[in-house]
Amino acid sequence: MLLNNTMQNKSPRNKTIALSPTEEKKWSRLLKEKIDYSNLEQIKNKVLLGDSIKIIQNLPSESIDLLLTDPPYNMTKYYAGTRFSKTNSIEYETWLRSWIEPITRLLKTNASIYICTEWQSSSSVEKVLRDYFFIQNRITWEREKGRAAKQNWKNASEDIWFCTVSKDYTFNNQAVQLKKKVIAPYKTAEGKPKDWQKEGDQKYRLTAPSNLWTDISVPFWSMKENTEHPTQKPEKLIAKLILASSNPGDLILDPFLGSGTTATVAHKLNRNYIGIEKELYYAQLSLKRIEMASKDSQIQGFRDGCFWERNSK
Ligand SMILES: C[S@@+](CC[C@H](N)C(=O)[O-])C[C@H]1O[C@@H](n2cnc3c(N)ncnc32)[C@H](O)[C@@H]1O
Repeated sequence: MLLNNTMQNKSPRNKTIALSPTEEKKWSRLLKEKIDYSNLEQIKNKVLLGDSIKIIQNLPSESIDLLLTDPPYNMTKYYAGTRFSKTNSIEYETWLRSWIEPITRLLKTNASIYICTEWQSSSSVEKVLRDYFFIQNRITWEREKGRAAKQNWKNASEDIWFCTVSKDYTFNNQAVQLKKKVIAPYKTAEGKPKDWQKEGDQKYRLTAPSNLWTDISVPFWSMKENTEHPTQKPEKLIAKLILASSNPGDLILDPFLGSGTTATVAHKLNRNYIGIEKELYYAQLSLKRIEMASKDSQIQGFRDGCFWERNSK
């Protein structure tokens, strides 16, 4: 099924992931099976259907290596017909606390935390995170897509807050290097390339990951990761966070899973995951994407162990 009826006669180039009635039934049955949320073996690599604020109360303590999530921002948005309403910053902060505080019990002492947000909600997110964690950084990434505004600057960026539970944490700097085309290929006095290599006709340099990302494309209809979720995050963006801040076999929690990007990328990168989503349609889409990931583990923009500039690979 596609939520948007106009998508039913989609063009062959439109790769948006949809569910057949048979898939809907299959995933629905699976999602409605009874699960003991306190049993780690039962919840590992599962998508849990329900309200994360209730479910996290029952999850096992000190089991999570990485909390990576993209909660509703403080703006009015419809998720599969359910409205999340914009409110004032005090109420939004109370809502953030209602799940961040109980999640602290679930985190290992060397765990990392990433919370996606945008400029209007960012100060609330930072304020609440400061009460529980060590704030390490704020990543800003450029969204190519975005509506022009008549009386304001077009909003073309989003934030991701990076925190840790303690000062002991994983950071795999080498795993998230960016491969860039070299415009001015300097040579050493001996005539050797200075920090670049030649590949075919092109010259490239591997650069250290910074907190400003301009190499991300937001999923759109001709990308094979695209779904109808209104705020789907790019797999490339989630892959950077997972590779930098976890190791194979680690357990990643996303309590606002949406269309399943965190779980799908975790599966592609040999990490374990627990995803929670309250909308059945999105939870079903997540299961389909995870199944697809078992057959195709490619991540657009990530090849040969490094990330490529936008539209280069
Ligand atoms: C911003 S979206 C996440 C999108 C996701 N990153 C992706 O790539 O598809 C937030 C999601 O949280 C879900 N949600 C909101 N409140 C929830 C709750 N209390 N428990 C579980 N899911 C919730 C919404 O249905 C929505 O799909």
